[in-house]
Amino acid sequence: MSDDDSAGDRTVRDVVESVFDVVAAAAPEIRRALPGRRVESGTDNPSGETVMAADVYADELLADRLAAVDDVGEFASEERESVADVGTGLAVAIDPLDGSSNLQSNNAMGTVVGVYDASLPASGRDLVGAGYVLYGPITTMVVATADGVREEVVEATTAPGEGGENAGGTVTRSVVEESIELPADPTVYGFGGRVPDWPPDFESYAREIESELKLRYGGAMVGDVNQVLTYGGVFAYPALQSAPNGKLRLQFEANPIAYVLEQAGGAGSDGERDLLDVEPDGLHQRVPLHVGSERLIDRLEDALA
Ligand code: AHG
Ligand code: MN
Ligand code: MN
Ligand code: MN
Repeated sequence: MSDDDSAGDRTVRDVVESVFDVVAAAAPEIRRALPGRRVESGTDNPSGETVMAADVYADELLADRLAAVDDVGEFASEERESVADVGTGLAVAIDPLDGSSNLQSNNAMGTVVGVYDASLPASGRDLVGAGYVLYGPITTMVVATADGVREEVVEATTAPGEGGENAGGTVTRSVVEESIELPADPTVYGFGGRVPDWPPDFESYAREIESELKLRYGGAMVGDVNQVLTYGGVFAYPALQSAPNGKLRLQFEANPIAYVLEQAGGAGSDGERDLLDVEPDGLHQRVPLHVGSERLIDRLEDALA
């Protein structure tokens, strides 16, 4: 399906907007479900990580609703082993709750969404839309399409019906930034992992950046990336000596976030090439992630060369 193609009489843009309509409407329900789901679910996900009850709730809520969107043909989630065939059309890949370990400390978390015009696992160049919800002091949603990057404030306007937290409600969405451009002068940085576990080349790059910018690391990629998008700078979860492919997943985290940053005038790299050019070779493949102001990503690639 290309930009002007239509499945039925809907364009790619229509389908991408329908996906983000669903994600926005689910945001207050996910937020309302968090307080009662701060415990481990007792299972691990395909990446071998502990799944919280909140991860399960967000995954199941979004899976049901996104699979039902007209002209969505595939659905995949960080929490699910394989791709679900849900009809014909675009492919949606989600990280239903990013930074769920922040539940314990009540820090920001998010939901990440990538809409690919190709079968999963796919290249980031097949993305036709991507974005994220940030569950911070307020709930915001960033949506990137070929037209640019916008930020919305999402508010629940009607409390759930008699059905309690699962009864849903309606939301009010107000666009607060029409087309986000990364600020020319970078201000903040945040790097995951531990210093002793960083490869030496990354450590020397990090030392330079630390002497120039302000540290902002909240432990959830979405929150840390949103600070970079707001103030300019760089966020990285780099290759580690203990994990040469880093921690973050290409399909559910790196591709969507790199798409947002590129559409906002920034860049994303795995250390050698654009993240969006990384060859997909598995639904849950991990990739070193570095995103932010283009000149800082260029310096990173020089440092790791
Ligand atoms: P998720 O909760 O979806 O598994 O993602 C967690 C990721 C990402 O949000 C964050 O950047 C990173 O884990 C933080 O890792 P550390 O706890 O090792 O800093
Ligand atoms: Mn996880
Ligand atoms: Mn995540
Ligand atoms: Mn997650």
